[in-house]
Amino acid sequence: MKENSFVLWAVFLAAAFLVASMDCATQNALPKLHPSEKRALKEIARKLGKRDWDFSVDPCSGGGNFTVASRPKGSESQLNCTCSLPLSNHSSSSSSCHVTILLLKGENLTGVLPPELSQLPYLEQLDLSRSVLNGTVPTEWSTMKLRILSFMGNKLSGPFPMALTKITTLNNLSLEANNFYGPIPSEIGNLVNLQQIHLSSNNFNGELPATLTKLTNLTELRISGNNFSGRIPDFLKKLTKLEKLQMQGCLMKGPIPSGISQLTRLTDLRISDLRGNASTFPDLRGMESMNKLILRNCSIHGTIPPYIGEMKKLKQLDLSFNNLSGEIPSSSQNFANVDFIFLIGNMLTGDIPSWVLTRSKIVDISYNNFTVGSGPTQCSEGGSINTVEIYASQADKMPNVPSCLKRNFPCTSNGKYRYALNINCGGTDIDINGTKFEADTDPKGASMLYINRDQNWAFSSSGNFMDNAVSADTYIVTNKSKLTVPHSELYMSARLSALSLTYYGLCMYPGNYTVRLHFAEIVFSGDNTYTSLGERLFNVFIQGKLVLEEFNIAKSAGGPGKAVIKNFTTTVTNYTLEIRLYWAGRGTTAIPDRGVYGPLISAISVTPNFDPPPEEPTTGRRVPLLLIVGVSVSAFLVTLLAVIICWRRSKRSKSMYKGDIIRWNNNSSQTTVIEACVLQQRGTLLELVDPSLGQEYPKEEALLMLNVALLCTNASPTLRPNMSQVISLLEGQAPLQPLLSKLSISSTSANSMDPMRVTRNFWQISSNESQSLSLNELCTDSSESLTETIPLNHSGTYQ
Ligand SMILES: *[C@@H]1O[C@H](CO)[C@@H](O)[C@H](O)[C@H]1NC(C)=O
Ligand SMILES: *[C@@H]1O[C@H](CO)[C@@H](O)[C@H](O)[C@H]1NC(C)=O
Ligand SMILES: *[C@@H]1O[C@H](CO)[C@@H](O)[C@H](O)[C@H]1NC(C)=O
Ligand SMILES: *[C@@H]1O[C@H](CO)[C@@H](O)[C@H](O)[C@H]1NC(C)=O
Ligand SMILES: *[C@@H]1O[C@H](CO)[C@@H](O)[C@H](O)[C@H]1NC(C)=O
Ligand SMILES: *[C@@H]1O[C@H](CO)[C@@H](O)[C@H](O)[C@H]1NC(C)=O
Ligand SMILES: *[C@@H]1O[C@H](CO)[C@@H](O)[C@H](O)[C@H]1NC(C)=O
Ligand SMILES: *[C@@H]1O[C@H](CO)[C@@H](O)[C@H](O)[C@H]1NC(C)=O
Ligand SMILES: *[C@@H]1O[C@H](CO)[C@@H](O)[C@H](O)[C@H]1NC(C)=O
Ligand SMILES: *[C@@H]1O[C@H](CO)[C@@H](O)[C@H](O)[C@H]1NC(C)=O
Ligand SMILES: *[C@@H]1O[C@H](CO)[C@@H](O)[C@H](O)[C@H]1NC(C)=O
Ligand SMILES: *[C@@H]1O[C@H](CO)[C@@H](O)[C@H](O)[C@H]1NC(C)=O
Repeated sequence: MKENSFVLWAVFLAAAFLVASMDCATQNALPKLHPSEKRALKEIARKLGKRDWDFSVDPCSGGGNFTVASRPKGSESQLNCTCSLPLSNHSSSSSSCHVTILLLKGENLTGVLPPELSQLPYLEQLDLSRSVLNGTVPTEWSTMKLRILSFMGNKLSGPFPMALTKITTLNNLSLEANNFYGPIPSEIGNLVNLQQIHLSSNNFNGELPATLTKLTNLTELRISGNNFSGRIPDFLKKLTKLEKLQMQGCLMKGPIPSGISQLTRLTDLRISDLRGNASTFPDLRGMESMNKLILRNCSIHGTIPPYIGEMKKLKQLDLSFNNLSGEIPSSSQNFANVDFIFLIGNMLTGDIPSWVLTRSKIVDISYNNFTVGSGPTQCSEGGSINTVEIYASQADKMPNVPSCLKRNFPCTSNGKYRYALNINCGGTDIDINGTKFEADTDPKGASMLYINRDQNWAFSSSGNFMDNAVSADTYIVTNKSKLTVPHSELYMSARLSALSLTYYGLCMYPGNYTVRLHFAEIVFSGDNTYTSLGERLFNVFIQGKLVLEEFNIAKSAGGPGKAVIKNFTTTVTNYTLEIRLYWAGRGTTAIPDRGVYGPLISAISVTPNFDPPPEEPTTGRRVPLLLIVGVSVSAFLVTLLAVIICWRRSKRSKSMYKGDIIRWNNNSSQTTVIEACVLQQRGTLLELVDPSLGQEYPKEEALLMLNVALLCTNASPTLRPNMSQVISLLEGQAPLQPLLSKLSISSTSANSMDPMRVTRNFWQISSNESQSLSLNELCTDSSESLTETIPLNHSGTYQ
């Protein structure tokens, strides 16, 4: 028995040995993570707050959640190892693997950067982007041999981490969208292998260190959204391999240094919102690979150089808010391939090239000084071409220019004024406490004008969201869950803009108003995930005056999902109220996703600081004769001219012109006799001529006809010519001058009244009403009917 049991025991031991050695052999075939790295990894998991790693499985095995194929959208979890063959067949401890890549993206990790990461000596690539890690980079990291390191979108803070300046193996480094501050240390020059460095959306300040010039292999430098000081250094020209240079909203001073001309490999150059001195257009000749060129709000004056139109790879061009003058260069036909063109807010002159008006891709030329008449014939809404306020002051007095093309977007109301304005930006019609907030649901906004149906408000929206890999940007955002703020319906949806968004209150009665701007941050979250780290900063101007600078909705409201109302007092003088929101390149642009930035607004309400006149009865109100005549005869002018044209055409075979020479389109017509009289007095009556005729019409005859028409509109019957006089005047058989010199209406009306005001109040009438007075009644001496008054309602429209 004893021997038997001994034998059994021996067999058991042998079997056990066999199993053990088999296990050993398996281990040699599939080496495991080096034990010291496994220990470090456990500590790393603890400090990062990474809880789903299962250490009962080898981290290099592909299991244990170290590499997970399907993660929530936007996140990624991956660990790669390099494994060496065992040094000896008898020593299992030498068979080992090492972590080389660790990607934990979008994981919402809430911990800190573990010093133990430096105990992964083979680690080359570390990506901890889009979490909520805080603290800073441990000094232990200075021994690491990383090539690629990203902390993009975290809560890391402190001065630029010096440990990083020792990791000289680094090729790519991103500290984007954290809370780092202070100057960039000169030691950054140690990182000679750097190809990409992203420092955007932090609070770095001071001047850029000259040691940056040691980074001669740098292809990408992004420093937008910081608080740097000083001028853009000319030494950047030494970084001749640069392909992407982004410095938007980083508070540096211009001008753009001339040395930039040496960076001929640039494909992506974005500079915006420079302070300091004006400069001419930087020399970008020879930059044939240019793909995205943004020089916005950089105080650039002079002309757009023609070679821009020859950059064959150009896809996006933004030269907005400079002082560029001169014409759009003729070489610009090549812009056909450019997807987005923004030339907003310059002083460009000359004719608008025809390719602009026929384009199907985005082009925004709003706020310029183009030749009057070279723009569209109507306020083209929606679409892809924005032509708001393209004519500067030249068109101010021209009655037949579409209103949206004119400076300050004047009112075209037929005398109807508003004393309040309520818009539910990005949302539908809603009633809040008895006030109707009007719907604003047009989904577009890269380059568009929207005018509401009643033509009493409008908005102009410019800019596309860059780098978002989305073919169609959305300009309206909707909150997914219900907000717990009063009147939450106002805040559930909002309008967004990538660059500039201007709301116009049109036809606002002059006076002082309270403007309330309603905001709630509904894109960023208030939880402890990376989506809470977004920082939206923008500026607000009311009537051209800066009222909010670097406004941060969430900060102002005490968190995302909360409402904040900013109220302002403003004065409307010219019937138009202008509220502009502008993105000055500040804040984050990649949280929760790339391309998330720019102004957001939930609602606008504007109330008068005066008592609006009470609603008046709609009949029986008497108004001065002069104004009635003004209204009646302006419509009459149409009739008269039509008669004259027909008459001349039938009389003479050699008719020199076709159709109307004056634009009497009911939608855009704003001509009043009074305005005509003002022009007549100035000797510029020809401004009434339809600009689309260009110079191709008989000026003398046009002038003659206009003058005769004007005479026929005279308030005093004794001064009006009769029909036979009209005919001889038009035939050139009677002199005009004696009659004109008696013209009295012009002097009284032009001097005693604000012509703009008269226009707004008394101009537009429908074609039906024009028939109420006949040709004979106006152009003969016996027209006593003119002394009758015609009832007008309070707002000046006919009943
Ligand atoms: C992987 O993670 C998920 C979710 O955290 C967890 O349910 C699962 O048990 C983990 N798998 C392993 C092998 O640890
Ligand atoms: C890292 O691991 C993943 C998943 O196992 C694999 O798809 C990928 O190719 C590996 N990457 C490298 C550089 O080895
Ligand atoms: C390990 O064993 C293999 C054969 O099993 C042999 O070819 C190899 O040389 C051995 N290595 C060492 C270091 O002894
Ligand atoms: C992190 O949080 C965001 C919301 O901010 C969420 O969309 C994402 O799925 C989360 N990531 C993981 C890995 O849970
Ligand atoms: C990091 O965040 C934690 C929890 O929010 C906090 O207790 C800790 O003080 C923070 N650490 C640093 C360095 O900010
Ligand atoms: C690192 O930078 C290079 C050069 O810009 C780039 O081609 C590469 O894709 C980057 N790698 C990563 C992981 O970002
Ligand atoms: C720059 O890159 C080239 C090749 O791309 C390499 O040969 C050279 O060593 C790099 N220079 C530095 C300073 O890293
Ligand atoms: C607009 O252009 C005209 C010439 O076309 C010029 O006389 C005028 O000064 C310009 N106005 C502005 C504001 O630049
Ligand atoms: C709604 O209007 C009433 C009456 O004017 C007022 O008492 C009440 O405070 C208003 N409610 C809100 C939420 O403004
Ligand atoms: C409007 O406001 C301005 C500036 O606050 C003030 O000077 C002016 O008197 C106000 N006008 C009226 C009519 O109240
Ligand atoms: C306007 O704002 C001021 C302070 O911001 C506040 O005291 C006032 O009550 C507000 N007025 C209205 C009418 O909301
Ligand atoms: C109002 O219009 C007049 C005449 O067009 C112009 O001179 C003035 O600058 C305008 N004012 C404002 C505030 O737009």
